[in-house]
This record gives sequence, C-alpha cells and structure tokens, in this order.
Amino acid sequence: MKKIKITICTGTTCYIMGATHLQRLDEVMDAAMLEQVEIIGSHCLGYCDAENFGKAPFVKVNDQLIADATLDKVIRKVREILNTGAN
Ligand code: FES
Repeated sequence: MKKIKITICTGTTCYIMGATHLQRLDEVMDAAMLEQVEIIGSHCLGYCDAENFGKAPFVKVNDQLIADATLDKVIRKVREILNTGAN
C-alpha cells in the first residue's frame, strides 16, 4: 500500500507560527499509523504569502492542505484517509 505523505512546512512563517511542535508527530502517532505514513519537512510551501489559504503553520497530507495545523488535525486527517481508503 502506498504511504500517506505528510509534508510539514519548516519555512520561517510556519516556524514562527508554531510548526516546531509538529516535528513531534512521529512521537505521538501509534506504531500502526506510523507504518502507513512518510513524514517529511519542506521549505516554504508558498501558502503563507497568500490570504486565501488560512493561517500558518501549514501541513500537507497527500494533496490536502491543513492550515493552522496541529498534531490533532494532522492525525485526524490521516485517520480519515485510512478509514476511507482514499489513499
Ligand atoms: S513558511 Fe510555511 S507556507 Fe510559507
């Protein structure tokens, strides 16, 4: 099965707006979920300059953007994808 790709923006705006706690994602996910995801960091994803994407920090889960991202929001999105088999 293809892994779910989680891209955490590590650009300056996202960093200032609280992206650092998102680096703990692999610590708070259970082992079964961790096996199904690939977590990567990225330079600015380009959403912080636009007004219509919401507030930093930004995370992408596959092609779905999460604004004002929290550990909870990211885990919920991964669960949703796993439950719907939409990966
Ligand atoms: S710094 Fe994260 S989208 Fe620009």
